[in-house]
Amino acid sequence: MSGGEAELFLSMKRYDLAHAMTVAGRLRDDPILQKAALLHDAGKLSSNLGLITRWLYTMLELLMPRRLLSMVEEVDAEAVGQRPLERARSLSGSWKRGLYAQSHHGEIAAELLSGLGSEEDLIQMVACHQEDPSSERARRLRAVDDRF
Ligand SMILES: [Fe+2]
Ligand SMILES: [Fe+2]
Repeated sequence: MSGGEAELFLSMKRYDLAHAMTVAGRLRDDPILQKAALLHDAGKLSSNLGLITRWLYTMLELLMPRRLLSMVEEVDAEAVGQRPLERARSLSGSWKRGLYAQSHHGEIAAELLSGLGSEEDLIQMVACHQEDPSSERARRLRAVDDRF
């Protein structure tokens, strides 16, 4: 891990760090995958995403997934900018920014890692970790991520 990547990792919230370490611990046989596991949720920046928004998001995901989807679509339509970080910051109101950050945290992490000069493989895996896995590696990351 480069100095910048280590700094990004250490800037994560304690519960994200614990989750990342657990996921990485199950993927020790593949160094790139292990690094992706450590950094995959680094887009959940505390500057964009508060604890209450995270909790609300999880509740809506469980109880009202369709409502959540339409809220995410509304917020997406309101966001302005080319890149995910810029789009998150364009939203006024902490819950809107939080909703955007939570639903796009993979892309936000990928943008941060790309700025740090991380490997393209790693960036791709992190960017898409919430979506349908496009490779065997991504499938493994998704499977372990979903379990913890
Ligand atoms: Fe994630
Ligand atoms: Fe995760």
